[in-house]
Amino acid sequence: MYRIKTMNKISAAGLAHLDKSRFQVSDEVENEDGILVRSAPMHDYVFPDALRAIARAGAGTNNIPIDRCSESGIVVFNTPGANANAVKELVLAAMLIASRDILGGAEWVQEQAHTPNVDLAPAVEKGKSAFAGPELYRKTVGVIGLGAIGALVCNAALELGMDVYGFDPFLSVDAALRLDRHVHVVHDVNELYKVADYVTIHVPYNSSTKDFINAEAISKMKGQVRVLNLARGELVNDDDMIAALESGRVARYVTDFPNEKIACIPHVIALPHLGASTPESEENCAVMAVRQLQDYLVNGNIINSVNMPNVAQDWSGISRLCLIHRNVPAMLTKIMTTLSDDGINVENMTNKSKKDYAYTIVDVNTRITDQVAGELRAIDGVIRVRVLNH
Ligand SMILES: NC(=O)c1ccc[n+]([C@@H]2O[C@H](COP(=O)([O-])OP(=O)(O)OC[C@H]3O[C@@H](n4cnc5c(N)ncnc54)[C@H](O)[C@@H]3O)[C@@H](O)[C@H]2O)c1
Repeated sequence: MYRIKTMNKISAAGLAHLDKSRFQVSDEVENEDGILVRSAPMHDYVFPDALRAIARAGAGTNNIPIDRCSESGIVVFNTPGANANAVKELVLAAMLIASRDILGGAEWVQEQAHTPNVDLAPAVEKGKSAFAGPELYRKTVGVIGLGAIGALVCNAALELGMDVYGFDPFLSVDAALRLDRHVHVVHDVNELYKVADYVTIHVPYNSSTKDFINAEAISKMKGQVRVLNLARGELVNDDDMIAALESGRVARYVTDFPNEKIACIPHVIALPHLGASTPESEENCAVMAVRQLQDYLVNGNIINSVNMPNVAQDWSGISRLCLIHRNVPAMLTKIMTTLSDDGINVENMTNKSKKDYAYTIVDVNTRITDQVAGELRAIDGVIRVRVLNH
């Protein structure tokens, strides 16, 4: 029986995918084989001996001590793309509320309705022009980052009759295949800035993307541009954005990551980090996290890990060896030599590396004894050896 500890509430729809005859799940199990987590902080968590994998139901993994996991041979999974539709829908809403002042207008109607002696219907007709704004149809949106979210945004914007420009210097083949062929993919972000009435950013935050949208970028954009940031607050330089809003160069800034500085500035629409906040997104993340964790524990397959390479292999023997080891020369030779010295014939084998670590699956037609497993564990550079039986 595999023991799974839940460190946050995980959607029941996700947990339903666990095979009850092989998995025990609760927030109280001890010496767990796997952990399901959302945002619980794990940096001080003491790993039990049995722990082999942590699956994060969500994309970001900064609540998990990744380096410590790698050193201990613990595979960390996340669920890329599982919340992409939720974010895409909020981006569409963000474009709309950045166009007509829908939020300001609704608030104003409430004020009027609560003011004594106001005849609401004529008051609305008289005051509505203050909240007017442009349509999206036939306007141009520039999408920075064409991954899971960016691609959905591009395709949905086309459906709304918009002209769509996309920029992503690291565009993967899979991501390119998801993009509608009517998206103009540009190789210089300035080409996008030059034409876009709306600019929306969907790249990960890291040292090279910090302040991606700054004074220089804004100076290349069209006047009265509307900028949307539902990716991470640090991607937009707040001071530069405030200056651009004050000068009128940027008409509206929608952010899902408010702070004290930016939230109170006129023409900023600050949302409370709502991008992934839908029951569907929570469920998608849980289902994906559970499936990946189960596949790893039962079959040794790694899909969507942030610290180990993706390796999946169909079963072709009666026992499977799963080895996490350092990515250094001669590891495979040492593993194969150990097996052949013990008279074990290899049916199939896959090896892949990711930065400093590598993962090898070896299928054999013999039961692996504790002695053989022990010899493999003793190889310098081997971090973890698991034996699975079909
Ligand atoms: N608001 C929310 O609640 C919420 C929810 C989910 C994700 N996000 C944010 O959205 C981001 C994107 O999510 P995703 O699922 O689409 O990720 P993804 O990994 O599928 O896509 C990111 C894309 O950005 C591209 N990219 C990286 N650096 C770039 C650069 N310098 N210029 C242009 N493109 C670059 C990558 O090539 C990739 O295609 C996440 O990193 C996260 O910060 C926010």
